[in-house]
Amino acid sequence: MADSETLNPISIGLDDGYAFTKVAIPDGRLIAIPSRARIGRSNVTWLNGSEQRVFEYETDDTLFAVGEVDGEPTHFDGYPFSGLNRAIVQHALHEAGLAGQSVHAVSGLPVSSFYLKDGDQRLDLIERKRASLKQAVQPIDGRLPAAIAFHEVIPEALAAWYDHIISEANGGVQLEAERLGVPVAVIDIGGRTTDFVVVADQAVRHDSSGSLRCGLLDLKRQVASAIRAKFDLEELSDRATDDAVRSGSVRLFGKTHDVAELVQHARRELIQRLHAETQRQLGRGAELERILFVGGGAVALAEDIRDWFPNQTIAPHPAFANARGMLKYLRYVCQEPT
Ligand SMILES: Nc1ncnc2c1ncn2[C@@H]1O[C@H](COP(=O)(O)OP(=O)(O)OP(=O)(O)O)[C@@H](O)[C@H]1O
Ligand SMILES: [Mg+2]
Repeated sequence: MADSETLNPISIGLDDGYAFTKVAIPDGRLIAIPSRARIGRSNVTWLNGSEQRVFEYETDDTLFAVGEVDGEPTHFDGYPFSGLNRAIVQHALHEAGLAGQSVHAVSGLPVSSFYLKDGDQRLDLIERKRASLKQAVQPIDGRLPAAIAFHEVIPEALAAWYDHIISEANGGVQLEAERLGVPVAVIDIGGRTTDFVVVADQAVRHDSSGSLRCGLLDLKRQVASAIRAKFDLEELSDRATDDAVRSGSVRLFGKTHDVAELVQHARRELIQRLHAETQRQLGRGAELERILFVGGGAVALAEDIRDWFPNQTIAPHPAFANARGMLKYLRYVCQEPT
């Protein structure tokens, strides 16, 4: 038996999104790494004393470099079932200090990948995701792998609802009865998708639930292409794009250039799309007790979404709401093997 199987397994919530991979651990730690990797070796030689920032993993006979690489985009449909995803998740587990551990995990799929419109589960997709992350991934520098021995999949935004209704305080766990009984909408603004889920009478309302393929990565893509066009560039690195979105300026040819207007324009376009779709899904939300915003987008767009509904709130540390909810689901709701 491998070492990892002789240790007590550790339970985690694993929100392996298109932009960031977030891990929640029972000791309360929350870890996030960018979902960024590429196929093949990193072609970087670390000079003595400098810190290693790219890590290599092998899965299914393919080698991946994870970390500070200009990555293959994760935003392709097969990403949740890919070796790229497994390598990034393995790296997140290492960053969380789980090397050599056996892991029990709950992860997610966007609402529209999890359910058909009539509410039936898409069992084939769910099973593909479940099986994919249980495949072995080997770090190639001698570190011990973390092995996912048990893995369940739930709809992403629904995970944030579990986070909302289950609270842990002073070492105890409690069901928030008054939150459980009332209709709530969760809006998860992510990198590639914005997920909607409405829960009433402890059931998902499928008419008002679903996913819009739109998120913060679209904003980045648009900003990158506008900067490339403006300065006649063939490439712009992920890092320069991130800086431009954050600061409204970009460093090119040794000078700082103001691109705030172009970033504003892309942001306004994204907000308009998100707002229109939110209203289409939820109307004015009059009969919802609460509309809960989660996901990294709820932080990045906090100013722009602040007055969409009178009955809205932003979850605490919204980017981690799904990961926290997945861990709570694993520990208190689903049948985890002992
Ligand atoms: N703490 C933060 N502050 C500001 N912006 C953030 C923060 N965390 C995340 N973001 C932004 O929010 C975006 C979405 O992050 P999130 O982690 O929700 O995406 P994801 O879950 O990986 O995507 P998806 O749900 O589509 O798979 C990121 O691209 C990033 O730009
Ligand atoms: Mg997400």
